[in-house]
Amino acid sequence: MKKVGSQVTIAIDGPAGSGKSTVARRVAEKLGLLYLDSGAMYRAVTLLAIQDGLTADSPELIERVKACRIEFADNGRTILLNTEDVSVDIRTPPVNRRVADIAKIPEIRHEIVKHQQRIGAEGRIIAEGRDLTTIVFPHADFKFYLDASVTERAKRRLADLEKQNVDITLAAVEAEISARDEKDKTRAHSPLRAAEDAIIVDTTDKTIDAVVDFILMHICEGEGGSR
Ligand code: DC
Repeated sequence: MKKVGSQVTIAIDGPAGSGKSTVARRVAEKLGLLYLDSGAMYRAVTLLAIQDGLTADSPELIERVKACRIEFADNGRTILLNTEDVSVDIRTPPVNRRVADIAKIPEIRHEIVKHQQRIGAEGRIIAEGRDLTTIVFPHADFKFYLDASVTERAKRRLADLEKQNVDITLAAVEAEISARDEKDKTRAHSPLRAAEDAIIVDTTDKTIDAVVDFILMHICEGEGGSR
């Protein structure tokens, strides 16, 4: 398998519900790579803001973010905020509603991107989010952009929320996802966009296994790289 034997960086971007977390996790397991869920980091600082009663324009927020510790355990399945396991709390509707406003603050992005690049320096990583292919790892060996229709993405997110016993309608999830897409794509700093050299994958009618196989095929063939 080309490149995967020693050092390899795989970056995946795409909107909420495009399947990138599940796909990246599976590829990480299959290839023995470190998995980095970059959205979890923006969610963790959003939770920190909520817990501290701070909003996106609170002047103290940046200092609080600089001082906090965000760590992953169990190869990305668990996220710790100042040593507390917040893996469930970061995926609740209050965080969903506020995260895009916190994630657009340049100073916060700067801190989080530095942290992600430090994690990536370990060299065998698959990372997913909104700016991994463009800003965090612009020289990644393989870049993918996953997308799907809004309705399909809302259905997937609803299924996740139902597992957590969150009571919400499909229409409400669709509205939340559309609002977040708009904010993520139109923000001034590091907006969500497909890198020119990313392979675009529409996952609307594809199973997770089919997307994983497609990505593994590209990696095996060594065709997806920007280098
Ligand atoms: O992937 P997710 O839904 O967990 O991401 C949560 C939010 O974080 C999303 O609204 C956009 C933001 N985000 C970002 O701005 N940059 C990233 N690399 C990852 C996520």
